[in-house]
Formats: sequence, C-alpha cells, structure tokens
Amino acid sequence: MKISMEKLTNYAKNYGFVFQGSELYGGLSNTWDYGPLGVELKNNLKNLWWRRFVQESPYNVGLDSAILMNPKTWEASGHLEQFTDPLIDCKSCKTRHRADHLVEQFDESVAADGMSSEELQRFIEEKKIPCPNCGAFDYTPLRHFNLMFETSLGVVDDKQQTIYLRPETCQGIFLNFKNVVRTARMKVPFGIAQSGKSFRNEITPKNFIFRTREFEQLELEFFCKPGTEMEWFDYWKEASLQFLLDLGLNKENLRMSDHDESQLSHYSNATTDIEYNYPFGFDELWGIASRTDYDLTQHQEHSKTSLEYQDPISNEKYIPYVVEPSLGVDRLFLSVLSDAYEEEELENGETRVHLKLHPALAPNKIAVLPLIKKRHREDAMRLYKKLAKRFTVAYDESGKIGRRYRRQDAIGTPLALTVDDEGQEEGYTIRHRDTMEQVRVKEDDLIAYIEKHVAF
Ligand code: GAP
Repeated sequence: MKISMEKLTNYAKNYGFVFQGSELYGGLSNTWDYGPLGVELKNNLKNLWWRRFVQESPYNVGLDSAILMNPKTWEASGHLEQFTDPLIDCKSCKTRHRADHLVEQFDESVAADGMSSEELQRFIEEKKIPCPNCGAFDYTPLRHFNLMFETSLGVVDDKQQTIYLRPETCQGIFLNFKNVVRTARMKVPFGIAQSGKSFRNEITPKNFIFRTREFEQLELEFFCKPGTEMEWFDYWKEASLQFLLDLGLNKENLRMSDHDESQLSHYSNATTDIEYNYPFGFDELWGIASRTDYDLTQHQEHSKTSLEYQDPISNEKYIPYVVEPSLGVDRLFLSVLSDAYEEEELENGETRVHLKLHPALAPNKIAVLPLIKKRHREDAMRLYKKLAKRFTVAYDESGKIGRRYRRQDAIGTPLALTVDDEGQEEGYTIRHRDTMEQVRVKEDDLIAYIEKHVAF
C-alpha cells in the first residue's frame, strides 16, 4: 500500500532523514534540512548518478560551475523575459495560485502548460473555477511572475549590480562549452554533467520536498551533430529509465510522458518526462529534452563569441545540438523513500517498518550490535572501527537485540552484525534486513561479504 504524504513526512522527520528548515525559529516556509540519515541517502544518490553518467560513461565529463553568473547569461537564455509563472490572487482569502495548476486541478484532461495567458484566464472565467482555499470566485487579473531570485553584487550602494541565483545548473555548462572542448579535447558527440543547487521563487511550493524554492539538480548536456539528436534523445531516455530501475524503483511506479506539440518549449523539438507515482500521484521526476542549438546560439549571439564546433576530420563547422536529461535530487530522494517504505505484519503480531532501499543507497551499510553491552562492547567497537574505514556503519548497544534489529530495518540498513561470545572463533552473525536470515561470517571474510551485498 502506498504511504501517505503526511506519514512519509513524519517518518522522515522522526528518523532524521529530513527536518523542517529553521525549525527553531518557527521554520521558514518550504525549506528543508537533510538530517544524519538524509544526507547519507542524498549523497549516495548523487554519487551513483555521477558514477553512472560521468565515471562509467565513455562520452561524458564533469563540471562544477558557479551559482552566481554574469546576468547577461539570463538575458541570453531567455530566463529574464520568459521564466515566469502565470499567477492569480484570490481577492477574498488573499491566497495566491498558479493559473495553470488551477486549470489542471479542475480538469485533469487539460494540458494547461501549453495554454497562453489569455486562454488560461478565459478557461478560469468560463468554468468559474472556485478558489481551492475558500471556494470564492473573485480573482485578480492574471499576471506573470519571474521565478528568479534576485540579489546584489558589491557592497557600495551606487555600484551594486543586480544578479540572480541560478534557476538551473545547465547554463554554467553552456558557458563552459568551449573551455571543456579545448582542455579535455572532447569530440562531438560528448556530454558535460554537473550537480548542484538551483533556486526558483516558486509561487506554490508544495508536497514536502517535491517542489521547493531551493533544490538540487543533476544535469547532463549532451552535444551532438544536428540531425543525430533523436538517436541520442532515445539513448538518454533509455539510460535514464534504466538508472532508476537499477536504483530499485518499482517499474509500475514509473512512466514516460511525451510532451505534445502544445507543451514543447519553444527551443525543444522533443521532450519526455519520466514521471514517478508519488504518494500524491504521478508527476515529473526527470525531464529529458532535445534542446536543439538554442542555448549555444543564444550565448554566441549575446557574447559575440563563436561557439561553433569544428569537426577534426571533416573540418565541418556547426553549432552542436543538445540533448538534456535533467533530474531533481530531492524528487529522486522522495521517490526512493516512498518506494522503499513498507509496513509488515510479523508472525508475533508486531508490525515492522521495513525500508527496503537498494543496499547501495542505504544510509548505513551495516549495523554493529554487541549482544550484551558490557561484555561485548570492546570487540564490537574494534569491529566498528575496522568496518567504518570502508563503509558507513551504525553502532547500537541499547535495548533488546530484537528492537535494535527493528530500528535498523526501519532506516534501511541491509546488514546487522551481532557480536557475541562465539564471534571471534566461529564467525559473527550477520542478519539480512529483507529476509531476516542469519549467517555466520568469519572476520577475515567480513569486508568481502559486505562489499558483495551492498554493490551497485
Ligand atoms: N535545465 C532544464 C530544467 O531545469 P526543469 O524541468 O525545469 O528543466 C528539471 O527541471 C528537473 O529539476 C525537474 O524534472 C525536477 O526533477 C527538478 N525541479 C525543477 N523544479 C524544481 C523544484 N521547484 N523543486 C524541486 N525540484 C525541481
């Protein structure tokens, strides 16, 4: 059964995955802090993505560009003018709404993201869509609201320059296209990947960490010869879906949603979203877009610097086309957490929370548990120190062993090692989270055994 959003949020908070941001001061709306278990899970997701899309890819290299960029970047990319959401306010209860969301919530069959402002306004008026908060039908006219966060560069008032927190990481990649071609001697087709924070002043952030104002993206810009982009579009769609399946997400909770003509951005000739079935239903997880030569052409024009690529064999010059798989880390986190959460009725009538994360994602790979605190602590600490050089290890010596197993099951630890009198001679008991089976493993074989069971 699917976990509710409320239960998942409480679970994440109670076990130290995700806390409300600035909680001590009453919170700051829609900000979230990742706790001790959350930061491990998040790092595992980012590292596995990097490994798959950079380290193991014969095509791609990495980058870490600055969050603050010359504001001309956003003029060229179109964000200053077009990165807006259609917004209307309810005059009765003073709540603010995204007009396209109002339309879609009213009629799920309508693709509101392809509608113009006039069409949205007309639809809301014709259907008399009530305010979801108070039920009134009394709105301000529709306005457009830019989603970029502004800040100022410089300390002297009259010399300050307005700059923006980046709303996507990929523009840093486009600006470094030439640098990477030159220094890494990359030949088309090739990709540049980067992970990092992005910021959007979302009008209606919602659903826990699904839509936030500060979030992390994992983006790949893949440069290819014009005319070959559809092959690469299919290639990266497959590779992205396979990555999600390899992370252990249930196939039936994933689906591909192709954008039709009316939903395509003006620079895209094909876009598909991989959607996940979140506790609140299917929604976007990973956007895969064929962006043509739009970005490089725009930056070439605005910077007055050639961004053409010259084929080293044919000497042909062209602006490469771009295929972009763009994934949100926080949405991936939400997907794997809700996918893995299960409650099971045990034979003794107890309920166990079983977080059946892929072992490679688990915040702790193994828990070291001395059977009797005073008697086995020394040996357990010795093992903890040895294993912690290779893996993330939990240590727990308080309470009955059964309860300690339950706690590790609930936070997804795939293996638990119990230290008892026989361990040094006969091997230590290793209990498996998913099957609850126990085996004895000799100390000399421990590292290889753990490695085998947590591999990706
Ligand atoms: N460079 C293309 C780009 O940024 P996008 O569809 O706007 O495209 C890509 O964003 C991905 O980033 C989304 O599929 C989603 O996973 C994540 N994302 C976007 N806005 C987000 C938000 N406000 N909160 C959390 N994740 C977000």
